[in-house]
Amino acid sequence: MRRHLVLTGLPGSGKTTVGRKLAAALGAALTDLDETIELATGQAVSGIFATLGEPRFRALERSAMQGALDAPPHVVTPGGGWIAQQGNLEAARQAGALLVYLRVSPETAAARLAGSDSRPLLAGDRLGAIRQLLAEREALYLQADHVVDAEPPAEAVAEALRALLAGSPAAP
Ligand code: S3P
Repeated sequence: MRRHLVLTGLPGSGKTTVGRKLAAALGAALTDLDETIELATGQAVSGIFATLGEPRFRALERSAMQGALDAPPHVVTPGGGWIAQQGNLEAARQAGALLVYLRVSPETAAARLAGSDSRPLLAGDRLGAIRQLLAEREALYLQADHVVDAEPPAEAVAEALRALLAGSPAAP
């Protein structure tokens, strides 16, 4: 790869699943920021929110992204809130990353996350919380270089993304 590829979008948009499939198809490495943070701290994201608080999580997230951006170009999947923290989008752009927004409806995102309680920001009314996050963040998600329909199954989204990148002179 010539530049990093950063997948962004709501929780439940399929960033990690699509990212893994795409990285495998491209023969590229992948950094999943939540996983990196969990490995580094020995705590689940939900535990970090509960014991250390969201600001500490966001600081860990920022430095995990910096570590990923400092590595050779590869696929990076941050959590859905990474883009909403001031300076993060600019840092990725400065590092030359290509950003792709995996767009899904709040209904699809909520359905995909049914039965999962690992997202501290989505406790309680999950669909309502996702709608709220989308309202707060969509303008930022839309600043990505490409918007990809992520309603289809992950395999199809990864393939669509691969085809899009293959046809783009600015591709990673
Ligand atoms: C968050 C999304 C989560 C995780 C954390 C916060 C958010 O990642 O980073 O719970 O603010 O949207 P996913 O987008 O992978 O669920």
